[in-house]
Amino acid sequence: MSLRTLPAGTTVAESMPLANESSSSRLLIIDDEQINVRVLREYLRLAGFANVEVCCDSRKAMELFTQYQPDLVLLDAMMPQISGLEILHEIRSGSERAFTPVVMVTADTSPTIRLQALERGATDFLQKPVDPAELITRVRNMLIVKEYHDEVATRAENLDRMIRKRTAELEASRMQIIQCLARAAEFRDNETGQHVVRVGRYARLLAEELGLAPNVIELISLAAPLHDIGKIGLPDSILHKPGKLNEEEIEQMRKHCEYGQRMLDPTMSGIHRPTEATTKEDGQYSLIEMVRIVTISHHERWDGTGYPLGLRGLDIPLPGRIVAVADVFDALSQSRSYKPAFPLDQCLEILKEGRGTHFDPRVLDAFIARFDDVRRIFLETADG
Ligand SMILES: [Fe+2]
Repeated sequence: MSLRTLPAGTTVAESMPLANESSSSRLLIIDDEQINVRVLREYLRLAGFANVEVCCDSRKAMELFTQYQPDLVLLDAMMPQISGLEILHEIRSGSERAFTPVVMVTADTSPTIRLQALERGATDFLQKPVDPAELITRVRNMLIVKEYHDEVATRAENLDRMIRKRTAELEASRMQIIQCLARAAEFRDNETGQHVVRVGRYARLLAEELGLAPNVIELISLAAPLHDIGKIGLPDSILHKPGKLNEEEIEQMRKHCEYGQRMLDPTMSGIHRPTEATTKEDGQYSLIEMVRIVTISHHERWDGTGYPLGLRGLDIPLPGRIVAVADVFDALSQSRSYKPAFPLDQCLEILKEGRGTHFDPRVLDAFIARFDDVRRIFLETADG
């Protein structure tokens, strides 16, 4: 198009919509014909658009688009080397600034080219020869839409940032509550020192080695330190008895699993079989649900001789099988009032003797595979 396309006797200035304040919007004209570029640029300048970049070589268009980051593009549909439709496709395919309004400028009046442009995401069309009033009106309208879009995007970004911050705060307070609860149980059983911390870390190692989903790994490592929360319900005479417990006292001690379950769900009376078993290895547990599973099942044994339910093999929920290994290893490797601490290698040998009887072979093998990490955690968390 050229200046000759203006209606006879009309100047560019006269054909403009009302002159307006200058716009800070960045516009990019992509057209291989210099004269078209000059005309469009002049129309825009007269309407107050000072920031107009031009590109007459379609091969450099995308590079310029990326560098200049325009608010709107006026794009010639028919160009040699790379067509306007191809450039439009590239703009829409890019993850950043894919929403930039693109006005296709075309002399082709056939519906085919319009349909193709629409399919590739053209925002609007201008027919050559371009009418300056129509050009400016359309450009302004699209810039308003772009502004709304940017505003919504900024709000969404701020909202997202705020949600992440609040979520992190909630997560931190959740962790604090869990640690408080774990310490409350620990206070009642004051010989265990860092026991709950170590069990949580060993359980995380095992869950990782077993390839569980990240959310399940996180939940198991949070829930494991609370496995003995039910000990809060035991009398001091049992909990703090020096030396070994008699049969009756052992029975009472074993009730800590049930007490824990009732603490976590006061509606439960008696001992409830965990229904989740292994079916939710990659599923969605709530934290309370996970703690309840760990609490009720960490003394079950692979061969069915454990308590309180006598579950066998895969009927024992995986988190319970994991905590069983972590808990027994920690008890063996630390001194208690009734026993000295065993050397780590001896602890491992004792665990191996329980492979397939006390412990799930797969879980025990995972523990052995990560024994260097176990040793590191043991040293890092040694009781003072
Ligand atoms: Fe226990």
